[in-house]
Amino acid sequence: MSVLIKGGRVVTAADDYVADVFVDGERISLIGESLDVAADHVIDATGKYVLPGCIDPHTHLDMPFGGTVTIDDVTSGHTAAAFGGTTCHVDFVIQTPGESFGAALEAWHAKRDGKAIIDNGYHMAVTDLKEGGSLEELASLPDQGVTSYKLFMAYKGALMVDDETLFKTMEVAAETGALVMVHAENGDVIDVLVKKALAAGHTEPHWHALTRPPETEGEATNRAIQLARVAGCPLYVVHVSCRESVEPIQRAREAGWDVWGETCTQYFFIDYSFLERPSFEGAKYVYTPPPRAKENQDVLWNAVRTDVLSAISTDHCAFSWAEQKAAGRDDFSKIPNGGPGIENRLQMIHEFGVRGGRISLNRMVELLATSPARLFGLYPKKGTIAIGSDADIVVFDPEKRVTISATTQKSRADYNLYEGTEVTGSPETVLVRGTVVVEGGELKVEPGFGQYVARARFGEELKSTASVEA
Ligand code: URP
Ligand code: ZN
Ligand code: ZN
Repeated sequence: MSVLIKGGRVVTAADDYVADVFVDGERISLIGESLDVAADHVIDATGKYVLPGCIDPHTHLDMPFGGTVTIDDVTSGHTAAAFGGTTCHVDFVIQTPGESFGAALEAWHAKRDGKAIIDNGYHMAVTDLKEGGSLEELASLPDQGVTSYKLFMAYKGALMVDDETLFKTMEVAAETGALVMVHAENGDVIDVLVKKALAAGHTEPHWHALTRPPETEGEATNRAIQLARVAGCPLYVVHVSCRESVEPIQRAREAGWDVWGETCTQYFFIDYSFLERPSFEGAKYVYTPPPRAKENQDVLWNAVRTDVLSAISTDHCAFSWAEQKAAGRDDFSKIPNGGPGIENRLQMIHEFGVRGGRISLNRMVELLATSPARLFGLYPKKGTIAIGSDADIVVFDPEKRVTISATTQKSRADYNLYEGTEVTGSPETVLVRGTVVVEGGELKVEPGFGQYVARARFGEELKSTASVEA
Protein backbone atom coordinates (compact mmCIF):
# COMPACT_ATOMS: atom_id res chain seq x y z
CA MET A 1 0.00 0.00 0.00
CA SER A 2 1.33 3.45 -0.88
CA VAL A 3 0.04 6.89 0.02
CA LEU A 4 0.89 10.25 -1.52
CA ILE A 5 0.17 13.32 0.58
CA LYS A 6 0.22 16.18 -1.89
CA GLY A 7 1.00 19.86 -1.47
CA GLY A 8 0.79 20.18 2.32
CA ARG A 9 2.82 22.42 4.59
CA VAL A 10 5.25 19.99 6.20
CA VAL A 11 6.07 21.16 9.71
CA THR A 12 8.65 19.46 11.89
CA ALA A 13 10.47 20.70 14.99
CA ALA A 14 13.01 22.34 12.69
CA ASP A 15 11.44 22.89 9.25
CA ASP A 16 8.41 24.37 7.59
CA TYR A 17 8.00 23.95 3.80
CA VAL A 18 5.45 22.90 1.18
CA ALA A 19 6.09 19.43 -0.25
CA ASP A 20 4.65 16.07 -1.28
CA VAL A 21 5.24 13.14 1.07
CA PHE A 22 5.27 9.63 -0.40
CA VAL A 23 4.69 6.68 1.89
CA ASP A 24 5.59 3.21 0.72
CA GLY A 25 4.37 0.56 3.14
CA GLU A 26 4.93 1.68 6.72
CA ARG A 27 7.57 4.33 6.17
CA ILE A 28 8.13 7.67 4.53
CA SER A 29 10.17 7.00 1.43
CA LEU A 30 10.22 10.28 -0.52
CA ILE A 31 9.74 13.95 0.27
CA GLY A 32 9.92 16.45 -2.57
CA GLU A 33 8.34 19.13 -4.68
CA SER A 34 5.61 17.87 -7.05
CA LEU A 35 6.60 14.20 -6.82
CA ASP A 36 5.86 12.25 -9.98
CA VAL A 37 4.87 8.95 -8.40
CA ALA A 38 1.78 6.77 -8.57
CA ALA A 39 0.14 5.84 -5.27
CA ASP A 40 -2.73 3.64 -4.12
CA HIS A 41 -4.18 6.51 -2.11
CA VAL A 42 -3.71 10.24 -2.73
CA ILE A 43 -4.48 12.83 -0.05
CA ASP A 44 -4.79 16.44 -1.18
CA ALA A 45 -3.21 18.41 1.67
CA THR A 46 -3.32 21.83 -0.01
CA GLY A 47 -3.76 24.46 2.69
CA LYS A 48 -3.20 21.86 5.43
CA TYR A 49 -0.34 21.19 7.79
CA VAL A 50 1.44 17.84 7.52
CA LEU A 51 2.67 17.11 11.03
CA PRO A 52 4.44 14.17 12.65
CA GLY A 53 1.97 12.10 14.66
CA CYS A 54 1.91 13.36 18.23
CA ILE A 55 3.38 11.24 21.00
CA ASP A 56 1.86 11.25 24.47
CA PRO A 57 4.49 10.15 26.98
CA HIS A 58 2.13 10.06 29.98
CA THR A 59 -1.15 8.11 29.99
CA HIS A 60 -3.07 5.68 32.18
CA LEU A 61 -5.34 3.33 30.22
CA ASP A 62 -7.20 0.51 31.93
CA MET A 63 -5.38 1.22 35.17
CA PRO A 64 -6.62 0.24 38.65
CA PHE A 65 -6.42 3.39 40.77
CA GLY A 66 -8.27 5.00 43.67
CA GLY A 67 -10.45 1.94 44.26
CA THR A 68 -11.63 1.75 40.66
CA VAL A 69 -10.25 1.36 37.12
CA THR A 70 -9.73 4.19 34.60
CA ILE A 71 -12.71 4.28 32.27
CA ASP A 72 -10.77 4.29 28.98
CA ASP A 73 -9.38 0.93 28.03
CA VAL A 74 -6.82 0.53 25.27
CA THR A 75 -9.38 0.64 22.44
CA SER A 76 -11.35 3.66 23.62
CA GLY A 77 -8.21 5.48 24.75
CA HIS A 78 -6.47 4.82 21.45
CA THR A 79 -9.51 5.86 19.43
CA ALA A 80 -9.65 9.14 21.35
CA ALA A 81 -5.90 9.59 20.85
CA ALA A 82 -6.07 8.91 17.11
CA PHE A 83 -8.89 11.41 16.54
CA GLY A 84 -6.80 13.94 18.43
CA GLY A 85 -3.70 13.40 16.28
CA THR A 86 -1.76 11.20 18.70
CA THR A 87 -0.29 8.16 16.97
CA CYS A 88 1.87 6.73 19.74
CA HIS A 89 1.89 6.90 23.54
CA VAL A 90 3.80 5.47 26.44
CA ASP A 91 1.59 4.07 29.18
CA PHE A 92 2.48 3.23 32.77
CA VAL A 93 2.68 -0.40 33.81
CA ILE A 94 2.00 -0.39 37.56
CA GLN A 95 3.80 -3.02 39.61
CA THR A 96 1.39 -4.16 42.33
CA PRO A 97 3.39 -4.42 45.58
CA GLY A 98 4.65 -7.99 45.90
CA GLU A 99 4.46 -8.58 42.15
CA SER A 100 7.44 -9.17 39.86
CA PHE A 101 8.09 -6.65 37.07
CA GLY A 102 7.68 -9.44 34.53
CA ALA A 103 4.20 -10.28 35.79
CA ALA A 104 3.20 -6.61 35.78
CA LEU A 105 4.44 -6.15 32.22
CA GLU A 106 2.63 -9.27 31.09
CA ALA A 107 -0.61 -7.97 32.61
CA TRP A 108 -0.27 -4.70 30.67
CA HIS A 109 0.49 -6.51 27.42
CA ALA A 110 -2.67 -8.56 27.97
CA LYS A 111 -4.67 -5.33 28.24
CA ARG A 112 -3.51 -4.21 24.78
CA ASP A 113 -3.47 -7.53 22.92
CA GLY A 114 -6.05 -7.39 20.12
CA LYS A 115 -7.23 -3.96 21.28
CA ALA A 116 -4.64 -1.43 20.13
CA ILE A 117 -5.44 1.16 17.46
CA ILE A 118 -2.22 3.21 17.65
CA ASP A 119 1.30 2.20 18.70
CA ASN A 120 2.49 2.27 22.28
CA GLY A 121 5.35 1.53 24.60
CA TYR A 122 5.53 1.12 28.37
CA HIS A 123 7.20 2.73 31.36
CA MET A 124 7.55 0.62 34.51
CA ALA A 125 6.14 2.16 37.70
CA VAL A 126 8.22 0.71 40.51
CA THR A 127 6.30 0.37 43.79
CA ASP A 128 8.17 -2.37 45.65
CA LEU A 129 11.76 -3.55 45.56
CA LYS A 130 11.53 -5.58 48.79
CA GLU A 131 8.94 -8.32 48.22
CA GLY A 132 8.22 -7.84 44.52
CA GLY A 133 10.67 -7.13 41.76
CA SER A 134 14.39 -7.42 42.35
CA LEU A 135 17.07 -4.96 41.28
CA GLU A 136 18.32 -7.57 38.78
CA GLU A 137 14.87 -7.88 37.22
CA LEU A 138 14.55 -4.11 37.09
CA ALA A 139 17.90 -3.96 35.30
CA SER A 140 16.64 -6.42 32.67
CA LEU A 141 13.64 -4.33 31.58
CA PRO A 142 15.47 -2.15 29.03
CA ASP A 143 16.23 -5.36 27.09
CA GLN A 144 12.46 -5.66 26.59
CA GLY A 145 12.18 -2.08 25.40
CA VAL A 146 10.99 -0.71 28.75
CA THR A 147 13.60 1.99 29.12
CA SER A 148 12.07 4.27 31.75
CA TYR A 149 11.32 3.69 35.44
CA LYS A 150 8.61 5.74 37.16
CA LEU A 151 8.40 6.43 40.87
CA PHE A 152 5.55 8.01 42.77
CA MET A 153 6.76 10.20 45.63
CA ALA A 154 3.11 10.68 46.68
CA TYR A 155 -0.07 8.57 47.17
CA LYS A 156 0.98 7.29 50.57
CA GLY A 157 -0.38 3.82 51.32
CA ALA A 158 -0.89 3.13 47.61
CA LEU A 159 1.79 3.84 44.99
CA MET A 160 4.24 5.93 47.01
CA VAL A 161 7.83 4.75 47.44
CA ASP A 162 10.33 5.76 50.11
CA ASP A 163 13.60 7.49 49.28
CA GLU A 164 15.49 4.20 49.55
CA THR A 165 13.43 2.66 46.74
CA LEU A 166 13.66 5.87 44.73
CA PHE A 167 17.42 6.04 45.08
CA LYS A 168 18.07 2.34 44.41
CA THR A 169 15.98 2.59 41.24
CA MET A 170 18.00 5.63 40.22
CA GLU A 171 21.21 3.65 40.72
CA VAL A 172 19.90 0.86 38.50
CA ALA A 173 18.93 3.42 35.86
CA ALA A 174 22.42 4.90 35.95
CA GLU A 175 23.75 1.40 35.15
CA THR A 176 21.22 0.35 32.52
CA GLY A 177 20.72 3.57 30.58
CA ALA A 178 17.09 3.99 31.60
CA LEU A 179 15.39 7.33 32.28
CA VAL A 180 13.91 7.87 35.76
CA MET A 181 10.53 9.61 35.90
CA VAL A 182 9.11 11.01 39.11
CA HIS A 183 5.70 12.09 40.29
CA ALA A 184 7.16 14.74 42.58
CA GLU A 185 5.05 15.60 45.62
CA ASN A 186 5.87 15.04 49.29
CA GLY A 187 3.41 12.24 50.08
CA ASP A 188 4.12 12.15 53.83
CA VAL A 189 3.32 15.82 54.31
CA ILE A 190 0.23 15.61 52.09
CA ASP A 191 -1.01 12.65 54.14
CA VAL A 192 -0.77 14.72 57.34
CA LEU A 193 -2.59 17.64 55.72
CA VAL A 194 -5.37 15.42 54.32
CA LYS A 195 -6.01 13.78 57.71
CA LYS A 196 -6.08 17.18 59.42
CA ALA A 197 -8.53 18.62 56.87
CA LEU A 198 -10.88 15.65 57.15
CA ALA A 199 -10.73 15.75 60.97
CA ALA A 200 -11.80 19.40 60.77
CA GLY A 201 -14.79 18.40 58.63
CA HIS A 202 -13.49 19.66 55.28
CA THR A 203 -14.80 17.24 52.69
CA GLU A 204 -15.38 19.27 49.49
CA PRO A 205 -13.34 18.77 46.28
CA HIS A 206 -11.29 21.98 46.60
CA TRP A 207 -9.63 20.54 49.71
CA HIS A 208 -7.78 18.28 47.28
CA ALA A 209 -5.72 21.34 46.32
CA LEU A 210 -5.56 22.91 49.77
CA THR A 211 -3.95 19.74 51.15
CA ARG A 212 -1.38 19.56 48.32
CA PRO A 213 0.25 23.00 48.40
CA PRO A 214 2.74 23.86 45.65
CA GLU A 215 5.62 23.75 48.14
CA THR A 216 5.09 19.97 48.49
CA GLU A 217 5.65 19.68 44.74
CA GLY A 218 8.66 22.00 44.82
CA GLU A 219 10.30 20.14 47.69
CA ALA A 220 9.90 16.73 46.05
CA THR A 221 11.10 18.02 42.68
CA ASN A 222 14.24 19.41 44.27
CA ARG A 223 14.80 16.21 46.29
CA ALA A 224 14.48 14.03 43.18
CA ILE A 225 16.88 16.28 41.26
CA GLN A 226 19.50 16.12 44.01
CA LEU A 227 19.15 12.34 44.41
CA ALA A 228 19.40 11.78 40.66
CA ARG A 229 22.59 13.84 40.74
CA VAL A 230 24.04 11.55 43.43
CA ALA A 231 22.97 8.40 41.58
CA GLY A 232 24.15 9.75 38.23
CA CYS A 233 20.96 9.00 36.29
CA PRO A 234 18.90 11.16 33.94
CA LEU A 235 15.65 12.47 35.46
CA TYR A 236 12.29 13.49 33.99
CA VAL A 237 9.77 15.21 36.24
CA VAL A 238 6.18 14.50 35.17
CA HIS A 239 3.16 16.82 35.32
CA VAL A 240 4.92 19.96 36.56
CA SER A 241 2.15 22.32 37.65
CA CYS A 242 3.64 25.35 39.39
CA ARG A 243 6.47 27.82 39.83
CA GLU A 244 7.78 25.90 42.87
CA SER A 245 8.78 22.95 40.72
CA VAL A 246 9.65 24.86 37.54
CA GLU A 247 12.36 26.76 39.40
CA PRO A 248 14.47 23.79 40.58
CA ILE A 249 14.21 22.26 37.10
CA GLN A 250 15.35 25.53 35.57
CA ARG A 251 18.32 25.73 37.96
CA ALA A 252 19.32 22.13 37.21
CA ARG A 253 19.11 22.65 33.46
CA GLU A 254 21.08 25.88 33.64
CA ALA A 255 23.75 23.92 35.51
CA GLY A 256 23.80 21.42 32.65
CA TRP A 257 22.39 18.52 34.66
CA ASP A 258 20.48 15.68 32.98
CA VAL A 259 17.08 16.91 34.13
CA TRP A 260 13.94 17.37 32.03
CA GLY A 261 10.35 18.16 32.84
CA GLU A 262 6.91 18.04 31.28
CA THR A 263 3.69 19.78 32.01
CA CYS A 264 0.23 18.70 30.86
CA THR A 265 -2.38 20.50 28.77
CA GLN A 266 -4.77 21.00 31.68
CA TYR A 267 -2.33 23.06 33.75
CA PHE A 268 -2.44 25.86 31.15
CA PHE A 269 -6.22 26.16 31.29
CA ILE A 270 -7.73 24.88 34.54
CA ASP A 271 -6.99 26.80 37.73
CA TYR A 272 -7.86 26.32 41.39
CA SER A 273 -11.24 28.08 41.05
CA PHE A 274 -12.58 25.17 38.96
CA LEU A 275 -12.35 22.96 42.06
CA GLU A 276 -14.74 25.30 43.86
CA ARG A 277 -17.54 24.80 41.34
CA PRO A 278 -20.77 23.91 43.17
CA SER A 279 -22.80 20.69 43.22
CA PHE A 280 -19.72 18.48 43.25
CA GLU A 281 -18.73 19.69 39.76
CA GLY A 282 -15.32 20.54 41.23
CA ALA A 283 -14.63 16.78 41.38
CA LYS A 284 -14.13 16.77 37.61
CA TYR A 285 -10.92 18.71 38.20
CA VAL A 286 -9.54 16.49 40.95
CA TYR A 287 -6.29 15.34 39.46
CA THR A 288 -2.80 15.40 40.88
CA PRO A 289 -0.94 17.73 41.20
CA PRO A 290 -4.09 19.81 41.56
CA PRO A 291 -5.11 22.81 39.48
CA ARG A 292 -3.05 25.73 40.79
CA ALA A 293 -3.47 29.48 41.23
CA LYS A 294 -3.93 31.12 37.82
CA GLU A 295 -0.59 32.96 37.84
CA ASN A 296 1.18 29.61 37.36
CA GLN A 297 -0.23 29.38 33.84
CA ASP A 298 2.08 32.09 32.53
CA VAL A 299 5.00 30.45 34.34
CA LEU A 300 4.25 27.23 32.46
CA TRP A 301 3.85 28.90 29.05
CA ASN A 302 7.16 30.61 29.59
CA ALA A 303 8.77 27.34 30.67
CA VAL A 304 7.65 25.43 27.57
CA ARG A 305 8.65 28.31 25.31
CA THR A 306 12.19 28.46 26.73
CA ASP A 307 12.74 24.67 27.04
CA VAL A 308 12.82 24.72 30.84
CA LEU A 309 10.01 22.20 30.29
CA SER A 310 10.53 20.02 27.24
CA ALA A 311 7.26 18.20 26.63
CA ILE A 312 3.50 18.51 27.04
CA SER A 313 1.67 15.30 27.90
CA THR A 314 -1.95 14.70 28.91
CA ASP A 315 -1.71 12.43 31.96
CA HIS A 316 -4.93 10.99 30.53
CA CYS A 317 -6.44 9.17 33.50
CA ALA A 318 -10.16 9.27 32.87
CA PHE A 319 -12.95 8.49 35.32
CA SER A 320 -16.65 9.08 34.97
CA TRP A 321 -17.89 11.98 37.06
CA ALA A 322 -21.42 10.62 37.63
CA GLU A 323 -20.26 7.27 38.96
CA GLN A 324 -16.57 6.90 39.66
CA LYS A 325 -15.83 10.40 41.00
CA ALA A 326 -19.04 10.18 43.06
CA ALA A 327 -17.21 7.83 45.44
CA GLY A 328 -15.80 11.00 47.01
CA ARG A 329 -19.00 12.99 47.47
CA ASP A 330 -18.53 13.04 51.23
CA ASP A 331 -14.75 12.86 51.33
CA PHE A 332 -12.51 14.58 48.78
CA SER A 333 -9.71 12.07 49.45
CA LYS A 334 -11.89 9.30 47.98
CA ILE A 335 -12.39 11.04 44.62
CA PRO A 336 -10.31 9.04 42.12
CA ASN A 337 -7.51 11.34 40.99
CA GLY A 338 -7.27 11.95 37.27
CA GLY A 339 -8.85 13.58 34.25
CA PRO A 340 -9.34 12.93 30.53
CA GLY A 341 -7.41 14.79 27.82
CA ILE A 342 -5.71 12.50 25.31
CA GLU A 343 -8.08 13.72 22.57
CA ASN A 344 -7.65 17.48 22.80
CA ARG A 345 -3.95 18.18 23.40
CA LEU A 346 -3.10 19.15 19.82
CA GLN A 347 -6.24 21.26 19.35
CA MET A 348 -5.75 23.13 22.64
CA ILE A 349 -2.01 23.76 22.27
CA HIS A 350 -2.47 24.83 18.65
CA GLU A 351 -5.28 27.21 19.56
CA PHE A 352 -3.86 28.83 22.69
CA GLY A 353 -0.15 28.18 22.18
CA VAL A 354 0.38 28.78 18.45
CA ARG A 355 -2.65 30.87 17.47
CA GLY A 356 -2.39 32.65 20.82
CA GLY A 357 1.16 33.72 19.93
CA ARG A 358 2.85 31.96 22.86
CA ILE A 359 4.86 29.34 20.94
CA SER A 360 5.77 28.74 17.30
CA LEU A 361 4.34 25.97 15.16
CA ASN A 362 7.78 24.30 15.17
CA ARG A 363 7.94 24.44 18.96
CA MET A 364 4.47 22.92 19.18
CA VAL A 365 5.64 19.96 17.08
CA GLU A 366 8.73 19.67 19.27
CA LEU A 367 6.73 19.67 22.52
CA LEU A 368 4.05 17.23 21.34
CA ALA A 369 6.06 14.87 19.16
CA THR A 370 9.80 15.28 18.64
CA SER A 371 10.95 15.91 22.18
CA PRO A 372 8.88 13.03 23.67
CA ALA A 373 10.27 10.80 20.91
CA ARG A 374 13.86 11.78 21.70
CA LEU A 375 13.50 11.52 25.48
CA PHE A 376 11.73 8.18 25.40
CA GLY A 377 13.81 6.29 22.85
CA LEU A 378 11.42 6.51 19.90
CA TYR A 379 13.34 8.89 17.64
CA PRO A 380 13.79 8.97 14.64
CA LYS A 381 11.42 6.05 14.08
CA LYS A 382 8.73 8.34 15.45
CA GLY A 383 8.40 12.03 16.23
CA THR A 384 9.40 13.56 12.90
CA ILE A 385 8.73 13.60 9.18
CA ALA A 386 11.83 12.27 7.50
CA ILE A 387 12.79 9.64 4.97
CA GLY A 388 12.92 6.27 6.73
CA SER A 389 10.73 7.30 9.66
CA ASP A 390 7.45 5.57 10.36
CA ALA A 391 4.68 7.24 8.38
CA ASP A 392 2.88 8.45 11.51
CA ILE A 393 1.37 11.59 10.05
CA VAL A 394 -1.37 14.08 10.91
CA VAL A 395 -2.94 16.10 8.12
CA PHE A 396 -4.14 19.06 10.16
CA ASP A 397 -6.71 21.56 8.90
CA PRO A 398 -5.72 24.92 10.43
CA GLU A 399 -9.06 26.48 9.45
CA LYS A 400 -11.43 23.88 10.81
CA ARG A 401 -13.58 25.23 13.65
CA VAL A 402 -14.52 22.83 16.41
CA THR A 403 -16.34 23.20 19.70
CA ILE A 404 -14.86 20.73 22.15
CA SER A 405 -17.50 18.70 23.98
CA ALA A 406 -17.98 15.45 25.84
CA THR A 407 -20.99 14.79 23.61
CA THR A 408 -18.77 14.29 20.56
CA GLN A 409 -15.60 12.88 22.11
CA LYS A 410 -14.36 9.32 21.68
CA SER A 411 -13.20 8.91 25.28
CA ARG A 412 -15.70 7.12 27.49
CA ALA A 413 -15.49 9.89 30.09
CA ASP A 414 -18.78 11.66 30.74
CA TYR A 415 -17.20 15.10 30.76
CA ASN A 416 -14.48 17.08 29.03
CA LEU A 417 -12.09 19.40 30.90
CA TYR A 418 -12.40 21.94 28.05
CA GLU A 419 -16.18 21.69 27.49
CA GLY A 420 -17.46 24.41 25.17
CA THR A 421 -14.03 25.68 24.14
CA GLU A 422 -13.96 26.81 20.51
CA VAL A 423 -10.81 26.07 18.56
CA THR A 424 -9.77 26.74 14.99
CA GLY A 425 -7.59 23.91 13.74
CA SER A 426 -8.10 20.17 14.05
CA PRO A 427 -6.70 16.89 12.73
CA GLU A 428 -8.38 15.78 9.51
CA THR A 429 -6.59 12.60 8.44
CA VAL A 430 -4.30 10.53 10.64
CA LEU A 431 -1.90 7.80 9.52
CA VAL A 432 -0.09 5.26 11.66
CA ARG A 433 2.77 3.45 9.92
CA GLY A 434 1.35 4.38 6.52
CA THR A 435 -2.19 3.20 7.19
CA VAL A 436 -4.99 5.73 7.38
CA VAL A 437 -6.53 5.28 10.84
CA VAL A 438 -8.81 8.33 10.85
CA GLU A 439 -10.37 9.94 7.78
CA GLY A 440 -13.65 11.73 7.15
CA GLY A 441 -14.53 11.59 10.82
CA GLU A 442 -14.33 7.80 10.87
CA LEU A 443 -12.03 5.23 12.41
CA LYS A 444 -10.58 3.17 9.57
CA VAL A 445 -8.80 0.30 11.35
CA GLU A 446 -9.86 -2.49 13.64
CA PRO A 447 -8.60 -3.00 17.20
CA GLY A 448 -5.38 -5.00 17.02
CA PHE A 449 -3.80 -2.76 14.40
CA GLY A 450 -1.56 -0.90 16.87
CA GLN A 451 1.86 -2.33 17.67
CA TYR A 452 3.95 -2.51 20.82
CA VAL A 453 7.11 -0.47 20.42
CA ALA A 454 10.26 -1.65 22.15
CA ARG A 455 12.01 1.64 22.94
CA ALA A 456 15.72 2.45 22.81
CA ARG A 457 17.71 3.32 25.92
CA PHE A 458 17.94 6.95 26.97
CA GLY A 459 20.02 8.94 24.47
CA GLU A 460 20.00 6.14 21.88
CA GLU A 461 18.19 6.17 18.57
CA LEU A 462 15.45 3.80 17.47
CA LYS A 463 15.36 2.84 13.82
CA SER A 464 12.18 2.03 11.98
CA THR A 465 12.92 -1.64 11.63
CA ALA A 466 13.01 -2.09 15.41
CA SER A 467 9.21 -2.23 15.83
CA VAL A 468 8.08 -5.60 17.12
CA GLU A 469 4.75 -7.11 18.01
CA ALA A 470 4.92 -8.51 21.55
O1 URP B 1 -4.39 12.59 39.06
C1 URP B 1 -3.60 11.96 38.36
N1 URP B 1 -2.59 12.59 37.82
N2 URP B 1 -3.79 10.64 38.15
C2 URP B 1 -2.95 9.76 37.49
C3 URP B 1 -1.82 9.29 38.34
C4 URP B 1 -0.71 10.27 38.36
O2 URP B 1 -0.39 10.79 39.41
O3 URP B 1 -0.13 10.53 37.32
ZN1 ZN C 1 1.42 11.51 38.92
ZN1 ZN D 1 -0.07 10.21 35.52
